[in-house]
Amino acid sequence: MPALPFPAPLTLNSGLRARDAWPLDPEVIHLNHGSFGAVPTAVVAHQDALRRRADLSPVEWFPRIAERVQEARERTAPFVGARAEDSVFVPNASAAATVVYNALRLEAGDEILVTDQGYGAITMGAERLARRFGASVRTVALPLLASDDEVVQLFADTLTGRTRLIVVDQITSPTARLLPTRRIAELAAAQGVRTLVDGAHAPGLIADAAAQAGGDWWFGNLHKWPCAPRGSALLVTSAPDRDELWPLIDSWAAREPYPVRFDTQGTIDATTYLATPTAIDFVENEFGWASARLAISEIADAGAEMIAEALRPYGDEDPLTPLPSPVPSMRLVRLPLGLGATREEADALRMDLLDAVGVETAFTSFRGIGYFRLSAHLYTEESDFAAFVERCVPQILSRAGIRSANSLIVS
Ligand SMILES: Cc1ncc(COP(=O)(O)O)c(C=O)c1O
Repeated sequence: MPALPFPAPLTLNSGLRARDAWPLDPEVIHLNHGSFGAVPTAVVAHQDALRRRADLSPVEWFPRIAERVQEARERTAPFVGARAEDSVFVPNASAAATVVYNALRLEAGDEILVTDQGYGAITMGAERLARRFGASVRTVALPLLASDDEVVQLFADTLTGRTRLIVVDQITSPTARLLPTRRIAELAAAQGVRTLVDGAHAPGLIADAAAQAGGDWWFGNLHKWPCAPRGSALLVTSAPDRDELWPLIDSWAAREPYPVRFDTQGTIDATTYLATPTAIDFVENEFGWASARLAISEIADAGAEMIAEALRPYGDEDPLTPLPSPVPSMRLVRLPLGLGATREEADALRMDLLDAVGVETAFTSFRGIGYFRLSAHLYTEESDFAAFVERCVPQILSRAGIRSANSLIVS
């Protein structure tokens, strides 16, 4: 396959390179935005300024924190296509799932459905919920290349009269694909089953992510693709029983209804929430979110092709793994056989390569196969992928026991 052209490096309104807007270590190659995000310098500065205000006059700052969080909520909710009155800030996607799980009551023998492409920590929470009530968790196995229709059919085939809850990802973590959550939730609702949509990766990548998702409850991380400071996520629901949802910290707003009771969380540093609209506005003002998604998608496609091309001579199957419903920013490139076969091995490889050659990556594992899950964001350039090919591909081949074309690597 011929190489795909990379778009020119993106520029800021000032004419500077987009990458200059992020305080990322220039000695390190950053190809894993998806795991922990990356916060632009302007957003870091705004959060620092907010913290300084809190330190200058704590009694001015903390008693008014709920009003400030509410204002941030009002500015942030429309970004995911939600109403502020349906949305609450929580520190992360994991916390959002915990809030929902804490509110649910099941009976012995009930079932929760999760998928084998779901996020492990969120599935563990579902397992704990099931244990509390003598219920059980069943896993819907989704083939990597299943079409949306096949995915919906697999849920239809697995639902039983005992199913009470479906937990499903809008964008899967190990395989970076979009799932038809709205259709799954509609199918579930028709049988009286409720759906929790894990949209951890969705804000920023999908316009109006919460509105698109369907389901009874949706949550998404703002510290991933929207580039907010870490510790910022939204939980959104208009379910009639949402007053059963409680923040993880009981505080002075405990007698208030949803969502207001979530705005007060004792004495905490809420600046991650308060600086979130700044991150959203930063991308909108510099690039426009719709254009940003298109640009990121072109970079991700060209980067995936460049890396696949470097690995192609060393395996029988094409390493480029085209998914039925790709997202703008992440791609899967299959690793040589045997590498990253388990999640633990994939995670270990990530840290090995960072320490050995200074490249931040994500490797994932699905059904015994390891993948490089590459991320592109506005700061990603062709040279990042070239550096991956130069620094990481020899390491990958060496670890897989493959002699490279130039015969330098054997192990
Ligand atoms: C699909 C999915 N769900 C949940 C999470 C958990 O996010 P957090 O660590 O911010 O709670 C992640 C993190 O990458 C994820 O990919």
